[in-house]
Amino acid sequence: MKVTVVGAGAVGASCAEYIAIKNFASEVVILDIKEGFAEGKAMDLIQTATLNGFDTRITGSTNDYSKTANSDVAVITSGIPRKPGMTREELIGINAGIVKEVSTNLVKHSPNVTLIVVSNPMDTMTYLAHQSVDLPKHKIIGMGGALDSARFKYRLAEALDCPASDVSGMVIGGHSDTGMLPLTRLATRNSVRVTEFLSEERLEQVKEDTKVGGATLTKLLGTSAWYAPGAAVSALVQSIACDQKKMFPCSTLLDGEYGLKDICIGVPVIIGKDGIEQIVELDLDEAEKAKLHESAEGVRKTNGLL
Ligand code: 2OP
Repeated sequence: MKVTVVGAGAVGASCAEYIAIKNFASEVVILDIKEGFAEGKAMDLIQTATLNGFDTRITGSTNDYSKTANSDVAVITSGIPRKPGMTREELIGINAGIVKEVSTNLVKHSPNVTLIVVSNPMDTMTYLAHQSVDLPKHKIIGMGGALDSARFKYRLAEALDCPASDVSGMVIGGHSDTGMLPLTRLATRNSVRVTEFLSEERLEQVKEDTKVGGATLTKLLGTSAWYAPGAAVSALVQSIACDQKKMFPCSTLLDGEYGLKDICIGVPVIIGKDGIEQIVELDLDEAEKAKLHESAEGVRKTNGLL
């Protein structure tokens, strides 16, 4: 399994690090446009191999896509991150051009690649990747819901005063401060619905904290987060590499599922060796359906800026 990570910034480096540490990929190539930057990150990371016990070969390149040839999976993290007070949607002007160019170059050298889009605004960038390259729709995956769900579980565990490993839950909808839909009704603590433990008000707070999860970190850090985004990407890459068939909410091109068409938005999918192997249709209640459609309207509005 050869994995390319485009963008050697904090998110890209964190993706490469988690993928390497989990030791399931034979090769990771890191690419960046800044001269020597990816080479430096790759060299620093590979020097942890004996300390962290992994065998993954890691190389870096300054924008030479021939080095990425025949990648099985490529992760697009390039573009600018948001600064405190910015929405993800405000990044579209700069990031759209970058994502279009990067995805085209990647597919030119790796025609069978599965793309994972991380750059923001992520749902719109995933849609743009579909428009830019000739890949089957199951081979383009937007990473957002996997991250938002991890943040949701963190907030639920905090409210329940229990370890996050006791909690199960998903966030669907757009990867934006207003578009996320944390599914509190379906979330469980070891198979018991969290609604049994937490009041409606407390669950509302969990929802709100989840939706601004990225913004809260951006405010604290001065730029957007990287550990959880990197870990979420590495979980998706591992599910492809090891054909785990795990279920994550991811941004995928819908064709009638959930009553939506011609839009990329977060819904639960099964991820295996072929990328998105199945879209899972949840039995949403009327309020949840309405919220998902409202979220889709927001994503469509951003898509209209392309
Ligand atoms: C986040 O939510 C980077 O969009 C990403 O942290």
